[in-house]
Amino acid sequence: MHGMRRRGWELPEHAATPEHLFFDRRALLGAGAALAAAAVIPAGARAQEDADPTEALYPVKRSDKYVLDRPITDAKVNGSYNNFYEFGSSKLIAKPAQALKIRPWTIKIDGMVEKPREIGFDDLVRQMPLEERLYRHRCVEAWSMAIPWSGFAFAKLIQFARPLSSAKYVRMETFLDPAVASGQRQTWYPWPYVEGLTLAEATNELAFLAIGAYGKPMPKQHGAPLRLAVPWKYGFKSIKSIVRFSFTDQRPKSFWEALQASEYGFWANVNPKVPHPRWSQATEELIGLGERRPTLLFNGYAEYVGDLYKGYENERLYV
Ligand code: MTE
Repeated sequence: MHGMRRRGWELPEHAATPEHLFFDRRALLGAGAALAAAAVIPAGARAQEDADPTEALYPVKRSDKYVLDRPITDAKVNGSYNNFYEFGSSKLIAKPAQALKIRPWTIKIDGMVEKPREIGFDDLVRQMPLEERLYRHRCVEAWSMAIPWSGFAFAKLIQFARPLSSAKYVRMETFLDPAVASGQRQTWYPWPYVEGLTLAEATNELAFLAIGAYGKPMPKQHGAPLRLAVPWKYGFKSIKSIVRFSFTDQRPKSFWEALQASEYGFWANVNPKVPHPRWSQATEELIGLGERRPTLLFNGYAEYVGDLYKGYENERLYV
């Protein structure tokens, strides 16, 4: 992400390094890091770390409804080019993100609901109808990926949460643990990461809560154990590692909006005709393919979400 508060040394690496060089260099660095890790982590500890209580749920059945117009991004490429500011502002956060402890993982549901509650992630997912969906992901930085997410419709969580009829928005929050997430020790950021949707958006059939990717439990760098996928919006709306859903009648202020509202707004719907204040959104780089393509309105999902914004024409729907 680019922000006014970005210091010179926070220039995203992809902006400075052509993508093919970035990945070649990373392959070398990655091989070295793997050797170093193997030398220090005892085998027993590695096996324990690897066991995920949701492993047996995979693979989940793929929905044939959500089709891509491009190949699925290679899992390794996708899993080593991430935005997860809790672990640093470069794309290379996969390794530090492994420090995140994802069990026990408790999800809080509160605010304007019939009854506030807390539920363990493993109990929650076993009550949800799981499916796999192929989604495009378009970052506000003008790059994109295509991912097979496993998870469940956000609408199912909302049924489970039973919001009051007066609730208009759902506010989501990421974990807060500066001891493991070094980025959260950088106090100029408004931690924890927060995002929000209107209830009409969150109950739109495309809004998806992802618990896995590429037919397996979610890798930590993608936002384990539970993250949002709202593919018609810029990627920063798809909040990772969620611990709390609060229902409210007040529009939530998101992390990036709190940092720089003129560049990152509440709606953040993809629109190639509305440039970011500092760069064009007309095209996108398909990460891993070395290709640029025109960006589509609502990232190609207009048939699902076009109607959601009637009556909001006076708002900044595309920033
Ligand atoms: N969620 C949290 N908690 N922290 C983040 O830094 N980055 C966002 C979004 N969700 C972010 C986050 C941005 S800018 C993007 S593009 C996507 O996560 C990146 O998701 P990926 O790394 O799985 O591709």
